[in-house]
Amino acid sequence: MRLNKHYSELNESYLFSTISHKVADYQAAHPDKDIIRLGIGDVTLPLAKPVIEALHKAVDEMGNKETFRGYGPEQGYDFLREAIRKYYESRGVGLELGEIFVSDGAKSDLGNLLDLFDVNNTVLVPDPVYPVYVDDNVMAGRTIRYMAANAENNFLPMPDDATDADIVYLCSPNNPTGAAYTTAQLAQWVKWAREHHAIILYDAAYECFVSEEGCARSIYEVEGAKEVAVEVCSFSKIAGFTGTRCGYTVVPFAIEQEGQSLNKMWLRRQTTKFNGVPYIVQRGAEAVFTEEGMKEIQHNLDYYRNNAAVIAAALDEAGVWYCGGKNSPYVWMRCPAGMKSWDFFDWLLETANVVGTPGSGFGPCGEGYFRLTAFGDAAKTVEAADRLKKALATLK
Ligand code: MLT
Repeated sequence: MRLNKHYSELNESYLFSTISHKVADYQAAHPDKDIIRLGIGDVTLPLAKPVIEALHKAVDEMGNKETFRGYGPEQGYDFLREAIRKYYESRGVGLELGEIFVSDGAKSDLGNLLDLFDVNNTVLVPDPVYPVYVDDNVMAGRTIRYMAANAENNFLPMPDDATDADIVYLCSPNNPTGAAYTTAQLAQWVKWAREHHAIILYDAAYECFVSEEGCARSIYEVEGAKEVAVEVCSFSKIAGFTGTRCGYTVVPFAIEQEGQSLNKMWLRRQTTKFNGVPYIVQRGAEAVFTEEGMKEIQHNLDYYRNNAAVIAAALDEAGVWYCGGKNSPYVWMRCPAGMKSWDFFDWLLETANVVGTPGSGFGPCGEGYFRLTAFGDAAKTVEAADRLKKALATLK
């Protein structure tokens, strides 16, 4: 027996586990401190009422012989796929039902999709980056290249003649920086992928936060994208499903390589390795896209947007540079006084009892930056922003 040697090439623990251990240690040493967590991007508002009603109804169905459901279709029930199809249609993107696959969340699919690609492909990821893209590929033993995202390119790296890769990960609006590509910028990526026979794995988990004109919510807004891009999305951020677990992945029929259809391969993979998302959860997810569901969800999104504005205002007052927060629940700030990311993490935890995520945890280009999430409780976010402002003022 031999173990997968690539696991030893990983960082010792997943970024958010490291943070949570550090915070737990601090809290144990200072039990009286009221720590406010703006670290991991986990939601705090409960599920919308229409979702709860749908979940209850589905639970009752499971308790009746006539309406009970056993194994469902691995790729998701048609009622949910149709609701997702219409959600795209309402934004001017036409999809076919067979292109939509329901999953238990974006994180799993972003890793599972790699089953479809040869290990010798070169992967290109932005730096800083959601650590899952990197770790999934390290585990598989794939070569990873990085493209710098920094203040000079507004944290939105673009392809040029020298860009060379087989698989590219793009996340927009971006985690961690909050930067969002315009449709015109994505069109350049699609053009590049078509010319290089590359594939784009597009993470759209934060699309619901896009509010600025011109910013894309789906890569399929770009003509020709269906031949080169897989889009992964989630109910976590739009509807608070981080604990309920549901997402979806679009694998267009038009992606063909070496005479093989990627859609067929993914279907084959899913029917073999996955038994689908629970019926109950899919009914809850379906309710997100009802008129009532969308209304309540917009209200929740505004709540988080307001949190982002509160954090941004505190940084404005403190004179600290930041980006994000407009099309994204993440505010990406420059650490003050030239501090390194983890030093600022420790300093902020000790000085203000506020937790964020060190930018360097997302890659070397994140060094000197820090991420704050707007998914917290509103009153606590106001308190955290106030503490942050006061703490920053002591550095002047
Ligand atoms: C984050 O904080 O980056 C997210 O919560 C991670 C995730 O969605 O898995």
